[in-house]
Amino acid sequence: MSLFDNILQDSESLFSDEISLDYEYLPKLLPYRENQQHHIVSCIKPLFEKRNGKNLLILGQPGIGKTAAVRFVLRDLEQETDEIFPIYINCWKKNTSHKIVLEICDQIGYKFTQNKTTEELFKKIMEVLNKKTVVFALDEIDKIEDNSILYLILEDIYRKTILLITNERKWLSNLDPRINSRLMIELLEFKPYTLDETKGILKQRSDYAFVKDVWEPNAIDLITKKTFELEDLRVGMFLLKESGNVAESKASRKILKEHSDVAISKLSTYKIKDSKSLEKEENLILSIIKENSGKPSTDIYNAYKEKTGKSYRTFSRKIKYLEKNKLITIKNITSDLGGQTSILNYGTIKKLTDFET
Ligand SMILES: Nc1ncnc2c1ncn2[C@@H]1O[C@H](COP(=O)(O)OP(=O)(O)O)[C@@H](O)[C@H]1O
Ligand SMILES: [Mg+2]
Repeated sequence: MSLFDNILQDSESLFSDEISLDYEYLPKLLPYRENQQHHIVSCIKPLFEKRNGKNLLILGQPGIGKTAAVRFVLRDLEQETDEIFPIYINCWKKNTSHKIVLEICDQIGYKFTQNKTTEELFKKIMEVLNKKTVVFALDEIDKIEDNSILYLILEDIYRKTILLITNERKWLSNLDPRINSRLMIELLEFKPYTLDETKGILKQRSDYAFVKDVWEPNAIDLITKKTFELEDLRVGMFLLKESGNVAESKASRKILKEHSDVAISKLSTYKIKDSKSLEKEENLILSIIKENSGKPSTDIYNAYKEKTGKSYRTFSRKIKYLEKNKLITIKNITSDLGGQTSILNYGTIKKLTDFET
């Protein structure tokens, strides 16, 4: 026993596998989502008998395992059979029908995509995929800018299951009725994890990611509590990683509560979940945006003005503040006539991924 036993050497690390804390990382097990996975599997099952599968809308707030559950099922499916082709697309990243079609071409290994229209490419996709059965998983479907890809898949791919994933409850009701009636979609809702489940998940992930016994129990308890409060596992992953980084920067061999405290304090600089800390009027604007997410700022301003009579300048300052605190996103678009419009969206939890780099 020496005085230096608790000091981490330069060559040492508290992490054994830091990658397993990435948001995209798919753990070996996905506890507490077994029922949901079985439901997804039951929609795919008819494809094994070359019949058409069922379509499913997977709904639930961010960071509660929707993507992980779907990718888990697709990974198993891939290992199980070559007859069913799984296609996973994140529509946040590929937000137009053309980009999605290009992505499908990539996944089926079709390379001659240059100078071809969406329709031409889709014909190629049909040739390949109609020889098999297909599972399409379109994640963050509410981010898609045009729905024609849904129409193409519904009409021209014969045997398939379509899984649509979103955290926007209203998305389906705003969908073109022609697509909606063809989809005949079932609903699967994900609920936030309980405290015990949150604890179990974070324990499992920390076991993958860290050297054995580096966590002081009260440090990880604190993170569990915070993650449960914010109902977002991504927050948990961020806090695990950040606490480890803080401990390493202090050359500590243990991750202590004080390190987790620092990690949590970083969290609050980019996300005020607790809207109590907002001014009354900012809260009012936030609630109007929540009700009208995706609408132009002028609509939101009119609703705010009706209630308060305040100027556009005041409004503009307040929405910038909400944006800065990652409670909303402001997207500027140019209309066909060249005019500028700002679209306001409620929530930005995705921005947590900004911290990956
Ligand atoms: N049951 C679980 N077991 C292990 N990790 C999980 C579980 N649920 C979620 N996660 C992890 O939490 C993070 C967020 O989950 P994700 O599936 O991306 O959420 P969503 O798609 O609902 O926003 C991911 O890193 C994921 O691996
Ligand atoms: Mg997701």
